[in-house]
Amino acid sequence: MTGQPLSDRFQYKTADALRRKAEALGVDLPFENDLRILLEPADVGGRRVPNRLAAQPMEGCDGTPDGAPGDLTTRRYERIASGGSGLIWFEATSIAADGRANPRQLFLSADTAPAFRRLVDLTREAARRRFGNRHEPYLVVQLTHSGRFSRTAGEGRRKATCFNPHVDREPLPAWTDEELDGVRETFVYAARLAADAGFDAVDIKACHGYLVHELLGAHTRANSRYGGPFEHRTRLLMDIVSAVRTQVPGLTVAVRLNATDGVPYPYGFGVSSDAGGAIDLAEPRRLARMLADAGCALLNISAGLPTFVPHLGRPFDRPVAGTAPAPEHPLVGVARLLGLGAAIQSEVPAVPVVATGLSWLRQFWPPVAAGLLTRGMAGFAGLGRGAFAYPDAAADLMARGVLDQTKCCIACSRCTELMRTGSTAGCAVRDHPLYASLHRAAMASARSVP
Ligand SMILES: Cc1cc2nc3c(=O)[nH]c(=O)nc-3n(C[C@H](O)[C@H](O)[C@H](O)COP(=O)(O)O)c2cc1C
Repeated sequence: MTGQPLSDRFQYKTADALRRKAEALGVDLPFENDLRILLEPADVGGRRVPNRLAAQPMEGCDGTPDGAPGDLTTRRYERIASGGSGLIWFEATSIAADGRANPRQLFLSADTAPAFRRLVDLTREAARRRFGNRHEPYLVVQLTHSGRFSRTAGEGRRKATCFNPHVDREPLPAWTDEELDGVRETFVYAARLAADAGFDAVDIKACHGYLVHELLGAHTRANSRYGGPFEHRTRLLMDIVSAVRTQVPGLTVAVRLNATDGVPYPYGFGVSSDAGGAIDLAEPRRLARMLADAGCALLNISAGLPTFVPHLGRPFDRPVAGTAPAPEHPLVGVARLLGLGAAIQSEVPAVPVVATGLSWLRQFWPPVAAGLLTRGMAGFAGLGRGAFAYPDAAADLMARGVLDQTKCCIACSRCTELMRTGSTAGCAVRDHPLYASLHRAAMASARSVP
């Protein structure tokens, strides 16, 4: 595969032109002109969801030092809620003070729970003000422990479940099994707080290299109830799901799951044991069935590790400054990511899957999303960077049936640059001047660091 030539960047004037490009690249993308299915209600865990459009979890890194939602956090969810998404998947929220990926990551604790309650109320109120009482968005909060990527663990106290030479510069201290038992209990505690705060569901985050996901690929963790064979590597996730189901009745359990990591065996999940990092969905399919049997009512399928193989999980036109261009045309990445979701959806037809990977398609994501839903390849259409850029895309679809091209995400990676440079994150292109000036300042100070 070769790097993406500049002339090959997004330049499609019509959905048909995009379809022809997909054909030329030999990738399969479903297109459906009738978009009505996107605005039809759905059912999750016995609760009505007003439409099939989902705002994906997107960290703004704008919590208070103790982890409560800050003003920009509230602004983000009010904008998304008044923008009409039926399903709002709140960003990565730590279950532990020392498990935060950055010092401004949200942290759900007894101290911050009242602030989360206010956030939920304000989010629901924003939706009601715009659409009335019948439009009540479904609110999921993503619970996480950042594991080896914890930036609040304190110098020398970050731990890993096993060494991974693709992401660790040197071996980190190892979690003991007893400590991982404790993590299970902390997830249950946070889930209870989330239920009390008014969320409809919790996501036990199992993607992007964070703690619960890290274990899924812990083939080399020896002499442990949490490493080695499949049953051991999936134990923490399955135990948390079961414990939340029994100990927090009435709360729906969701999982955002990596279908493949792109990290070569024996350090990744969903990769072939005999061909480096090639995709092998046997274990992810099996895990999806186990989750469905355990009562998980909603799945969200992602891929890759953001710092190791960013093109797998968020196809882009412009890479993060100082990093390599994608080794493939972004449309290949979009089709792969949507295809991974579809593969898992076919395994568990009764559990709706949120499709990931639509933002790069700009104003043409609705026909592709409608194609996915019509063919049963997903239950919801998820927008990540698109939700930062264009939080009212759903409202525009409801009102006019088309998107405004000038409001769409352009896959420029500036939101990721904001996050990586320690700033608060948002769309520097469509949500300016706020995030454009933050981005300028963040990049200038990053350049001035020797
Ligand atoms: C700035 C930024 C923050 C993100 N935060 C989260 C997060 O909190 N949790 C998560 O699971 N994924 C997170 N993601 C990944 C997105 O949810 C999504 O999977 C990815 O952007 C691909 O979808 P898209 O093409 O619609 O953007 C983040 C991505 C970016 C760029």
